[in-house]
Amino acid sequence: MSTHSSAVPVRAMLVLGTRPEAIKLAPVARAMAAGPRFEPFVVTTGQHREMLHQMLSLLRVDARIALDVMRTRQQLSDLTARLVRELGDVMREQRPDLVVVQGDTTTALCGALAAFYEKIPVAHVEAGLRTGVLDNPFPEELNRCLISRIARWHFAPTPAAAGHLAAEGVPGEQVFVTGNTVVDNLLWVLAEGTAASAFRTDARRILVTLHRRENQGERMRGMGRALTRLAARGDVEIVLPLHKSPAVREVLLPELDGRPGISLIEPLDYLDFAATLAECDLVLTDSGGIQEEAPSLSKPALVLRTTTERPEAVEAGAARLIGTDPEAIVTWAQRLLDDPAEYRRMARAGNPFGDGTATTRILAQLAEDFAADVPVGLTASGPYSAA
Ligand code: UD1
Ligand code: UDP
Repeated sequence: MSTHSSAVPVRAMLVLGTRPEAIKLAPVARAMAAGPRFEPFVVTTGQHREMLHQMLSLLRVDARIALDVMRTRQQLSDLTARLVRELGDVMREQRPDLVVVQGDTTTALCGALAAFYEKIPVAHVEAGLRTGVLDNPFPEELNRCLISRIARWHFAPTPAAAGHLAAEGVPGEQVFVTGNTVVDNLLWVLAEGTAASAFRTDARRILVTLHRRENQGERMRGMGRALTRLAARGDVEIVLPLHKSPAVREVLLPELDGRPGISLIEPLDYLDFAATLAECDLVLTDSGGIQEEAPSLSKPALVLRTTTERPEAVEAGAARLIGTDPEAIVTWAQRLLDDPAEYRRMARAGNPFGDGTATTRILAQLAEDFAADVPVGLTASGPYSAA
């Protein structure tokens, strides 16, 4: 255990490697950089390259160390090995007081694991999400369970997420319900200024994203066919920003490129994506973050997955978990397009993921615990530790 003088800024290492981590840690980075209490620096792992790069301007932190671990189609085991080794090297060199990780990516798991090896306490942003199915989503469900074994601070977006941690025996004094920082960032970006929506016509506008590993291959091809059938209505414009993953592109490009009513476009930067989401009528997605953003902007979301770790939106009525069967996708999308009452019910369900103050709560808690007289250890003491 160590103590930390409140006169000295807390050196916080923010580890991020993929698009959603940059988006969800951006408000934390900005807020830390804006005040005297924290001295943040960002380590980008390069798990994503182009898609991370286009998010970096959101961070507003100059201090940055860039690793370069991305290899096309590398195995998870190679990525993990490289990340733990390289993040461990950075931690040994920099000796931060705190490592902050977000969510459930391989970058987040390796950031937490490397910090544990270096005996640096870990704050986990977006803690406690669970589907209860260890390999769905794969490998994220396992990643987040493992991070919860390591973290010292668990910032849960909702009471249900905090409940999962309690059920797993995480001490209650280490768990804080904060809301999700994705809402903070979305509100900040929309207030920041204008951006261009990707929709080009005034047909009914459907925004689609697909990328999950468990959906790749035949399932994704079926989803593509469902989109073709929807486009054949003739009164919709489907915009699909294509994930950079080759496993996604090799399925969706041959299936959908050049189809009338469907625009396959490159990933949008966040300002443009937020503008596009704000203009759409309906969202079809297997993304985690978009399930949180859509209800923030009153957009009904059909979740094209068999499980979700974000049941709050489904329970609130803002999203529907419809699975991956093409027939179900067409049926549900048609229903929302053609039944105004059903549409209104979903659009008005509200946002269960927070009110835009998650970052403030996170920083306040960390600042309090790093105050001079509070010991900051790797974990709280357990039931069998000596007094
Ligand atoms: C990763 C996360 C997933 C998250 C998603 C967000 C893991 C295991 N998965 O999935 O939780 O939802 O990011 O998008 O951490 N690629 C590029 N350029 C890029 C990004 C990716 O070329 O900018 C290619 C690379 O070949 C890479 C592949 O896409 O190997 C897949 O990327 P990877 O990070 O392994 O997994 P994702 O499916 O993106
Ligand atoms: N997003 C973006 N541009 C795009 C597609 C998505 O900025 O073209 C943002 C979106 O707003 C959300 C995040 O990327 O915040 C979601 O990322 P992704 O779906 O890749 O990952 P997940 O959230 O499923 O982990």
